[in-house]
Amino acid sequence: MSEMILVLDFGGQYNQLIARRVRENNVYCEVHTGLSIEKIRALNPSGIILTGGPQSVYAADSLLPPEEIFSLNVPILGICYGAQAMAKILGGEVKPAQVSEYGKTEVEILRASKLFVNVEQNSVAWMSHTDRIFSVPENFLVTASTANCPVAAMENPEKNFYAVQFHPEVIHTVKGKKIFSNFVDICGCKRDWRMSSFVADSVAKLKTKIGNGKVLCALSGGVDSSVAAVLLSRAVGKNLTCVFVDHGLLRKNEAAEVEAAFSNYDLNFVKIDAGERFLSKLRGVTEPERKRKIIGEEFIRVFEEVAKKIGAVDYLVQGTIYPDVIESGLGKSAVIKSHHNVGGLPDFVDFKEIVEPLRLLFKDEVRQAGRELDLPENLVSRQPFPGPGLGIRIIGEVTAEKVKIVQDADAIYREEIFKAGVDKNLSQYFAALTNMRSVGVMGDGRTYDFAIALRAVQTDDFMTAEAAQLPWDVLSRAANRIVNEVKGVNRVLYDCTTKPPATIEFE
Ligand code: XMP
Repeated sequence: MSEMILVLDFGGQYNQLIARRVRENNVYCEVHTGLSIEKIRALNPSGIILTGGPQSVYAADSLLPPEEIFSLNVPILGICYGAQAMAKILGGEVKPAQVSEYGKTEVEILRASKLFVNVEQNSVAWMSHTDRIFSVPENFLVTASTANCPVAAMENPEKNFYAVQFHPEVIHTVKGKKIFSNFVDICGCKRDWRMSSFVADSVAKLKTKIGNGKVLCALSGGVDSSVAAVLLSRAVGKNLTCVFVDHGLLRKNEAAEVEAAFSNYDLNFVKIDAGERFLSKLRGVTEPERKRKIIGEEFIRVFEEVAKKIGAVDYLVQGTIYPDVIESGLGKSAVIKSHHNVGGLPDFVDFKEIVEPLRLLFKDEVRQAGRELDLPENLVSRQPFPGPGLGIRIIGEVTAEKVKIVQDADAIYREEIFKAGVDKNLSQYFAALTNMRSVGVMGDGRTYDFAIALRAVQTDDFMTAEAAQLPWDVLSRAANRIVNEVKGVNRVLYDCTTKPPATIEFE
């Protein structure tokens, strides 16, 4: 096992970003909650980071790290609540701030610090706190301050204890990445962790955990479930059965591509053609959330039927990745669309435990892991595709005819974008079928056909997105080909709305 930095999680919303920032420095990092000192010792971390969190350290029921971590002789970095926890445990004082700070804030570095090497004296950091440190523990120095927070950072350089009130993990903290890199140096890490080590470690851990147990995986053909499946296949080989439910709402040729890719791995691959079944459930249904629910539920029903035939298994694999964990509502954010890739667990599959080998990774890290596992590039670099598939790219009722239209139009659009080489600048691009028919003229005759909408967006996090300014010649070539080659379409529109107010998908 390579060296690792341990993140003790106190419930802050940016906590997984901390893990990512550490891994960007080629140091392995794990996030844990409520670990005992024995467990922490057993993990033998090179450094510990205490995260932010919504509590107040002076509240009677506040969660604090075991005090003994401060005697382990490893560097510790406290962030926000973690900084206050460090102050409290070591004898400083934390109280409500007169003025709470939220957002981008000017920070002044007050003295040389190993944590702030190559960080300018005046810099911008992301603040989000209502308590603050009023007095620092013995042998601590104040190393940074803001207008409303005199102790924006403190440290005990002899012991290598560091604390920052701001959030270096958030991109708005201009030198945040540098601060993590400095902490990694303080921890004396060799920076030798690579995604290949993640793959090797995960395979070893899965082998130990699962032994000769039976494992079942629902494959969607997307990056996440595919990477999770091949990881498991490395660990347990033929003890893994992957069930690929083709709901008939995949992109053109996608089902065949997935089948071909998985024929190269040691696992039992079961493909179910359930297109007809989904279409019949969707007949007459036009309301978007109902369509999503039907597709999600039917997916589970089909999966359950296959699972029943397979019989009892020990583990069920889920390709959950970190952003799924956030989006599906750790916080109190409103449900905009119900995603069907998490939460919808089959009720009747006989299994003992769920394994989620990618739960800690971000999307680009999952893709990297997929490359390490020799998955074909077309699968690994695949753009996001929603679980309900083309069902939510066909506005209104889904029919076999409409699925064919949108598949063909989408294939042409993707081909033109790829040929023009503009795909690399796009986060997601696809064709959708509007529920609108309009009048056109073809040859000498009047037509009354569907309009296809083309969409291409650029985004970092898929929570907000810009409509891409595609070159006109690419758009017009795609439009021409679509109206000429796809029967039933006489008009092509380009969607130039941002998200918000629109969403990326149409339903
Ligand atoms: P929206 O349409 O909400 O989409 O702006 C944001 C991102 O999420 C994808 N998406 C889904 N992914 N299951 C998924 O796995 C779903 O039900 C689902 N709905 C939307 C969408 O493609 C975009 O990348």
